[in-house]
Amino acid sequence: MPTETTSPSTRIAIVGAGQVGGAVAYALILGSIACELLLVDVKVDLRDAQVRDLSDVAYATGAGMRVRAATHHEAGQCDIVIITAGSRYGFGETSIQHMHRNASLIRNVVKAMTPFRSDAIVLVVSNPVDLLTSIAQELAGLPKFQVFGSGTFLESVRIRGLLAEKAGVAANSIQLFVLGVQGDCQVVAWSSATINGIPLDKVLSPETFGHQELAKECKARAETIFSAKGATPFGIGSVVASICASILFDKREVRPISHYQPEFECCFSLPVILGRNGIMKTIDMPLASDENAAMARSAHRLKSAMELTDKK
Ligand SMILES: NC(=O)c1ccc[n+]([C@@H]2O[C@H](COP(=O)([O-])OP(=O)(O)OC[C@H]3O[C@@H](n4cnc5c(N)ncnc54)[C@H](O)[C@@H]3O)[C@@H](O)[C@H]2O)c1
Ligand SMILES: *[C@@H]1O[C@H](CO)[C@@H](O)[C@H](O)[C@H]1NC(C)=O
Repeated sequence: MPTETTSPSTRIAIVGAGQVGGAVAYALILGSIACELLLVDVKVDLRDAQVRDLSDVAYATGAGMRVRAATHHEAGQCDIVIITAGSRYGFGETSIQHMHRNASLIRNVVKAMTPFRSDAIVLVVSNPVDLLTSIAQELAGLPKFQVFGSGTFLESVRIRGLLAEKAGVAANSIQLFVLGVQGDCQVVAWSSATINGIPLDKVLSPETFGHQELAKECKARAETIFSAKGATPFGIGSVVASICASILFDKREVRPISHYQPEFECCFSLPVILGRNGIMKTIDMPLASDENAAMARSAHRLKSAMELTDKK
């Protein structure tokens, strides 16, 4: 039985059924965000085990969602294709070598799915997310507004949560974005932060929270989680499910998403309006001059990485 809220044939594919792919699937099933979920992985045993485990979740919710194994080609024919394929550090591998391996992984994954259904939406989650989104976009053969990455959405959610704890205000009453290229260069857009539309510094005195400490804690969290449990699945899982809901239910929510920036010819995060066709519009966010400069620096770093991986 199709769910009431999605059209009868809605299908989402997850390519890379590891820790993150599994958590994305779990969140999608609990939210009944599609009718059918297709899992793809080169590790066939792992893929099939995930299908069985997640089918139990679907049986338990009783919403009638189906989970099954699929090929890359079938994944490319879905409404949304989520790329969560990844590679672990090889023994003695340098970070440059690993970056090349990550770049060639996404090329193989995207090529194995082309030609995509013409209205498919491709959502890249694998890291380094902005680099891999930029590569996927070049190869997918789809309009640019249909290929994007989870970008700094998780970081934005996280910093709102951290600030909420300090300020004693609910996180969903805080508007604050982490933007730019995810990772070392990401930019917290403090200058445009508000609490229900009121500038942050009018509501909270900066002494009650430190900009720098919060930005640092936001960046460090992923590593802290990763070093203890070897993956960071749940946060990204729920963020990705929320992106899928924005798309399939045409919600027009404003989210920080990695997408094509014509000025820099690569993908990184700025707020967008998300709807059924993908990126409906970039929100031109007014930033302070130091924030704009930091955004440009982050974009140039990404461009250098792109040039490096182009040569291989
Ligand atoms: N964007 C974010 O905010 C964010 C957050 C957390 C994790 N991630 C990223 O998500 C990715 C997955 O992380 P994980 O912890 O699940 O790793 P994992 O190793 O548990 O899972 C990755 C899976 O991808 C599979 N895979 C490899 N090559 C494939 C191919 N060509 N086709 C299909 N599947 C393939 C592997 O077999 C493996 O099962 C990583 O790149 C990680 O860095 C991103
Ligand atoms: C390559 O991808 C893995 C996950 O798939 C990620 O943990 C790692 O940071 C990436 N390496 C580089 C150098 O970007």
